[in-house]
Amino acid sequence: MVAGDLKMMLPPHFPCQLLGFDISGRVEAVGSAVSTLRVGDEVIACLQGLQTGAFAEYAVVAQGQAALKPRSLSHAQAACLPMAGLTALQSLRAAGVDRRARPLTVFLQGPLGGVGSVQLQLAARHFGVTRTIASVSARKLAQASELFGQLPGVEMACYSELAPAKQFAQQADVVLHTAGSIDEVLPIMKKQSAAAAAAAHAAAPSSAHGGAMVPKPMTVSVCTIPSGAECELFGTPMPWLVRKVLDLADWNTRRKARAHGGDYSFCFMLECTADLALLASLADEGKLCPVVAQTFPLQRTREAMQLAQEGNLAGKVVIQMVPE
Ligand SMILES: NC(=O)c1ccc[n+]([C@@H]2O[C@H](COP(=O)([O-])OP(=O)(O)OC[C@H]3O[C@@H](n4cnc5c(N)ncnc54)[C@H](OP(=O)(O)O)[C@@H]3O)[C@@H](O)[C@H]2O)c1
Repeated sequence: MVAGDLKMMLPPHFPCQLLGFDISGRVEAVGSAVSTLRVGDEVIACLQGLQTGAFAEYAVVAQGQAALKPRSLSHAQAACLPMAGLTALQSLRAAGVDRRARPLTVFLQGPLGGVGSVQLQLAARHFGVTRTIASVSARKLAQASELFGQLPGVEMACYSELAPAKQFAQQADVVLHTAGSIDEVLPIMKKQSAAAAAAAHAAAPSSAHGGAMVPKPMTVSVCTIPSGAECELFGTPMPWLVRKVLDLADWNTRRKARAHGGDYSFCFMLECTADLALLASLADEGKLCPVVAQTFPLQRTREAMQLAQEGNLAGKVVIQMVPE
């Protein structure tokens, strides 16, 4: 967003609104129609429909975007959860991790990133993925291994030494793309013959959510370009030509995924109280622990954003309104 990559989807309006999506705090007042939250409740929230404003002492949140804060986490830790956690959970589901046959191999990136660190913990501790390969830079390998290397089935792989497409070619049932070029991760999907696809389909357990089974290897990206139709889900009005260009780019990525024997889809995070509540309960069960890189007071927000953008940090940067 800072680099202007989302300009087409989210044109800036001046004067700019406040930045920041994620909130952890205490409810100070509620509207007359609010039924699920009370004054004094400690909550986490992801601000609605990309309407930002979390970098402030007060923010207005719809009850459908908030859930009770996990009791076991500090506000600084809890504030790392909403957007990254929802993106991680929903991308794993979009890849059908909950309805695929075991053994199951998942490849993901950035185990110390906001999204990647939650994907990794959910894969290993919530979805029971048999093998989770986490691709990390040399500078973060030691810390990632120390934090998450002991989780069941987790392997850390250093992408600075050898490209993952070479190290893990055709090894993963699911590839979660959060960084770099999608072309570098598509070859990691298993190449499945029609016969193998049919066998995997037959072996997959029924979906607890009633959705279709997804036996084909799949890449889910949270960082490529969404299609024009997906952008319009957010109500972003866009010229016909721009929509067509985005649709074409999306079609092209799907085509490339098919050439590697799998499927591809982009995943947009959706605010959802039920998913936030699930993340909070997993945190309280000790299955999910957000990684806080550093906290800053509100006055140092610019510095915090610069640090986050440089990408050297392990974990999330948090802006704290009051010391805990
Ligand atoms: N679709 C959605 O709704 C949605 C929602 C939230 C975020 N996002 C997007 O998701 C992406 C990740 O967000 P985030 O908050 O997790 O960012 P982040 O905290 O900055 O983490 C990104 C991680 O990727 C790693 N990385 C960079 N290049 C890599 C590569 N080639 N291979 C493996 N790892 C690599 C970085 O660490 P290293 O030092 O190890 O490289 C870093 O840990 C961003 O593009 C963001 O815009 C999308």
